[in-house]
Amino acid sequence: MYVCICNRYRDAEIRALAQQGVRCARQAYSQLGNGPECGQCLEFAQEMIDTEHLVPAGARAPETV
Ligand code: FES
Repeated sequence: MYVCICNRYRDAEIRALAQQGVRCARQAYSQLGNGPECGQCLEFAQEMIDTEHLVPAGARAPETV
């Protein structure tokens, strides 16, 4: 599933960075190559990152690709 349409970033990429310790959506985007453009996705991406830090990896639903 795409999280960021402008940059074509997927949920799996955002979750992987969160699991590596990234805690901020802007930081995740920077590590993926480009910062946000329109910014419409940032709140959702941040919620995804926050959830990764709250829910143990084994307790999550399978990721969508
Ligand atoms: S949808 Fe992510 S910056 Fe536009």
